Amino acid sequence: MHTFLPIAYFENEFVPFENAKLSIATHALHYGTAAFGGMRGIPNPENPKQILLFRLNRHCQRLSQSAKFLNYELSPEKLQQIIIDFVQKNKPTQSFYIRPLVYSSGLGIAPRLHNIEKNFFVYGLEMGDYLSPDGISCRISSWTRQEDRSFPLRGKISAAYITSALAKTEAVESGFDEAILMNSQGKVCEATGMNIFIVRNSKLITPGFEQDILEGITRDSILTLARNLDIPTIERPIDKSELFIADEVFLCGTAAKIAPVKQIETFKLSSHRPITEKLRDKLFAITENKDPQYADWVYVVDLP
Ligand SMILES: Cc1ncc(COP(=O)(O)O)c(C=O)c1O
Repeated sequence: MHTFLPIAYFENEFVPFENAKLSIATHALHYGTAAFGGMRGIPNPENPKQILLFRLNRHCQRLSQSAKFLNYELSPEKLQQIIIDFVQKNKPTQSFYIRPLVYSSGLGIAPRLHNIEKNFFVYGLEMGDYLSPDGISCRISSWTRQEDRSFPLRGKISAAYITSALAKTEAVESGFDEAILMNSQGKVCEATGMNIFIVRNSKLITPGFEQDILEGITRDSILTLARNLDIPTIERPIDKSELFIADEVFLCGTAAKIAPVKQIETFKLSSHRPITEKLRDKLFAITENKDPQYADWVYVVDLP
């Protein structure tokens, strides 16, 4: 069971988490007409009166864009201010995860986006490692990632996660930790809640936006870091067979951070992962605000 932060933002006010309850007739519950975000925060290891949020503005911008697909205008500035207030009210003492969700909150029947109220809430929970940092096993999913022509993949839309849920359960029930999904072109896409990178001949390769991936913020951070570290980066389609012979493979996302892959189907990957480790150490130092070059990626919230 999760440990939830005590205060939630719900129906335009801050309330105890237990009091934030929805009607069973809530439109989004029936039609998946919701979109969410997910960001991490930690108490500043150097100063317990401060909380560090990783790429707050980028997360708020993505959620604001996702809300547009729901016919809902919600500015990134408003979201950002509410998240800062949320953190100040909760005063977290452990590493945590913030989950904002925008949704069709009206009680109407019939799928639509017009003439139905929207709202958003924010809650949080304590969160350590989501996947083992020592290496995970992956299967290739029998489920295919949706296509942008039938689903707004540039948004982080709740309804899309049925595919992730099917893929994750299929993987775990067949003895693996995670699933890698192909896209409708049969190319490597991403995992159930993470983007994917491979390393071949010292080059870092990841599928481009045209491969139906989510525009991951960790992915973006890793590409920037790699370029600044003079690691050659390529965004291009990846074939399934490349996964099996890659020098390194890792998954990345807000929850998973950088999770090295040790096995895909029956193929074992090397435990020598110099590029994954270099990027992981760098990202870790940045999230702790120990790298002045990337200080603008860390939003410092002063606690009252
Ligand atoms: C389907 C999917 N892909 C990729 C990611 C990674 O995105 P980010 O790094 O912004 O957390 C996530 C998590 O948000 C996700 O749900």
